[in-house]
Amino acid sequence: MNQDQLKQLVGQAAVAYVPAGQVLGVGTGSTVDCFIDALAADIAAGRLAIPGAVSSSERSTQRLQKAGIPVLDASAVERLAVYIDGADEIDHQGFMVKGGGAALTREKIVADLADRFVCIADASKLVQTLGKFPLPVEIIPMAAAQLTRRFAALGGSATLRAGVVTDNGGHILDVTGLSITDPLAFEAEVSQWPGVVTVGVFARHKAQVCLLGAADGVKTLT
Ligand code: A5P
Repeated sequence: MNQDQLKQLVGQAAVAYVPAGQVLGVGTGSTVDCFIDALAADIAAGRLAIPGAVSSSERSTQRLQKAGIPVLDASAVERLAVYIDGADEIDHQGFMVKGGGAALTREKIVADLADRFVCIADASKLVQTLGKFPLPVEIIPMAAAQLTRRFAALGGSATLRAGVVTDNGGHILDVTGLSITDPLAFEAEVSQWPGVVTVGVFARHKAQVCLLGAADGVKTLT
């Protein structure tokens, strides 16, 4: 099975975690695209009904709406039972690196609304220690140089993602060379640096369930 087939496999498996009759939180990325397609198919076949979804990006909003699934504003809901999203890296504790698709800020906002984060990924995303994937950080543009120096002091090398403006008007730094051995402490520290909008470490908002697509099927980590 290739990577696209594994994404389809976990996208399909994630539909079982959608609470019937409740608004769902929906993440962003190519794996989530597969999930939205599988969700839409179940809804169209009458196997599942939900009142709508809170989306974490313009990309997912468009796909949901095209599938006929109503998209609600985040401010219209108080809590979500479940948020389903992909990851760029996930470790055995459910801590993740996210933001490869530049949607990390809205992803963290929607994840914060949810009682349960269900991560969907192909098995290549499972790591022992976070940091191999360049860490995305959404920033206020004027802080780029000073944040680059701060990451350098941690042993990281930050590069501005060329030509990318986020859904919120922010820029993205991608930081290589980090080994994030304490994700909770790292997230807490970097989040309070002036100019950081969102750091792509999801430790406070870790996954409670991870569905990993592998050649021999979907593995569930809890
Ligand atoms: C989007 O900003 C990211 O957080 C995605 O969730 C992550 O990059 C996973 O994307 P893929 O499913 O495309 O690998």
